[in-house]
Amino acid sequence: MKKPYQMLLKPLAVAITTAGLLVGCGSDDNKSSSTSTAAVADTEDTALAFDASNYTTATITVDGENMTVRQYSMVYVANPIAMASANRMGSTSVVTNPYIYQTMIVTVPEASLENQTTALYFMVNNGGWFNSPATASVTDGGSYVSTSDSDNVGAALKAGYVLVDVGTRSRGLRAEDGTYAGKAPAPVVDAKAAIRYLRLNDSLMPGSAERIIVNGTSGGGGLTSAIAASGNSTDFLPFLDAIGAAGVTGSGDTLASTIKDDVFAAVAYCPINNLGNADAGYEWQYNAIRSDSNTGAISGVAYSAGPQPAASAEIAATFPEYLAGLGLKLDDGTSLTTDNINDEIVAQLKAEIERQIAAGVAVPAYGENFSVTQRGVTSEVINDWLVLSGSGTSATVESIDFEKFLKFVTTPIALKTVVAFDATAVNGNTSVSGETNLFGNENYEYSNFTAWSWDNNEVVADGSGTDDTGVTWADYMSSSDGEDLATQLKLINPLSYLNTDADSAPHWYIRHGMIDRDTAFAMQLALYTAVKNDPNVQDVSFKLPYLVPHSGNYDVQEAFAWIKETLDAAN
Ligand code: DHB
Repeated sequence: MKKPYQMLLKPLAVAITTAGLLVGCGSDDNKSSSTSTAAVADTEDTALAFDASNYTTATITVDGENMTVRQYSMVYVANPIAMASANRMGSTSVVTNPYIYQTMIVTVPEASLENQTTALYFMVNNGGWFNSPATASVTDGGSYVSTSDSDNVGAALKAGYVLVDVGTRSRGLRAEDGTYAGKAPAPVVDAKAAIRYLRLNDSLMPGSAERIIVNGTSGGGGLTSAIAASGNSTDFLPFLDAIGAAGVTGSGDTLASTIKDDVFAAVAYCPINNLGNADAGYEWQYNAIRSDSNTGAISGVAYSAGPQPAASAEIAATFPEYLAGLGLKLDDGTSLTTDNINDEIVAQLKAEIERQIAAGVAVPAYGENFSVTQRGVTSEVINDWLVLSGSGTSATVESIDFEKFLKFVTTPIALKTVVAFDATAVNGNTSVSGETNLFGNENYEYSNFTAWSWDNNEVVADGSGTDDTGVTWADYMSSSDGEDLATQLKLINPLSYLNTDADSAPHWYIRHGMIDRDTAFAMQLALYTAVKNDPNVQDVSFKLPYLVPHSGNYDVQEAFAWIKETLDAAN
């Protein structure tokens, strides 16, 4: 069996190009200016011309009123990869439309057909960082509601935005030629290719591609933040070129871009971001409170009786240096470190709980029960961590016992086992557990992607780790295959691009539920701080919503008010 370090990822080399090569990419809203780049195009761009006559019509209701929408479905790259099968959560299905992963469905409310300034609400759907076929979120005969807190599609339709459902490759895909064609950074590359299609055709399509609002949850939130952070980065050009994305010219050293792929805003829920460091953050956050009651057994061996505690402690120990190395700054100029990040989380919790109290929510007093719903199951969990002072809507948070808060979060739902994301070293590569099959390459199904899991992988013949390859993580990472892995990790990580010369989105709305244990609060605080630090960013709205579990689009009224306000202010 070939080992991943013996293989080549294609395309590997990150283009040696400069942002200065970007042409025809004005950032204004005036579509008669440089953003109408259809004329600049090469043959691939010509093939990607929007066909306004190729649509279907759907009749739906929004708030009980009839609405007609036009729907366009298009493959957004000139060289799509034909897929044969898709695995999600361990079950494999045959792909019937081989190009559905590089297809997007554009839904236009009829009233917006002539509107060249309305926003494009761009929905990524790669939950779990899995492959996501383009799926229309608006269907003929459907009923949508703009006033609900859970119908973002209804709210977008009512606002007259153009809706985009984008399919993207990602882990679990197998192409017709047998290759694993969804490896990182494929979902980011595909979403950028779709954005480039929208920019290429901006003058021909309703709405403004200068006003793309990317929306996604969890894996989709991670993808949203990666897209929004890395606008116009030339790192993506070789990958974009390989699939025939719009606006890529030249080859090798002459690769250049004629179209921009930055976006206006990100609306990211519980973003599973920065996978290369998510395990370090997770174990650092939770190591002290892991126990048999909140951490599952692996292969029948209880948490406390097996390798998990030692692994957790070792992985946790890497986080302080990583976080400090990011060089992020708090509002007062202090560096964000593991000495103060939990205080920042507590401050966010306090602010959120006080907002709830002021809005009339009955927050239980110390010793009373919270009603907590996780994965559809409601349980009563005692408040042993939050002390309030005062009463009624003017009560305030007196204190939060953070360690007890973390135990509270993990009482109704157990933590992920160790290793949470790079989950192969402890339980093997036998199932889709953790994100190991986002890495590897087109010929190799899995790869560890963190030091600990690589160095401690004892699964014989899985091709990953020191046991099979004979090289340590440190040596692997200095090989050319290790460099490819580093590129994969970089290109899916928003923190690689925030505070660089990439064109990050100016507007961010980030939410991570207060009882969401799918990634560490510390990872979200680091993302939020990096976004705040980025000089391109004009505003960021960040909350840890009260008693919200791992989920998204649950605060549609607030999110769409923010979107409207943000768009209005940019006018
Ligand atoms: C999702 C959840 C996870 O726990 C994870 O590691 C990646 C993605 C999700 O719900 O999309």
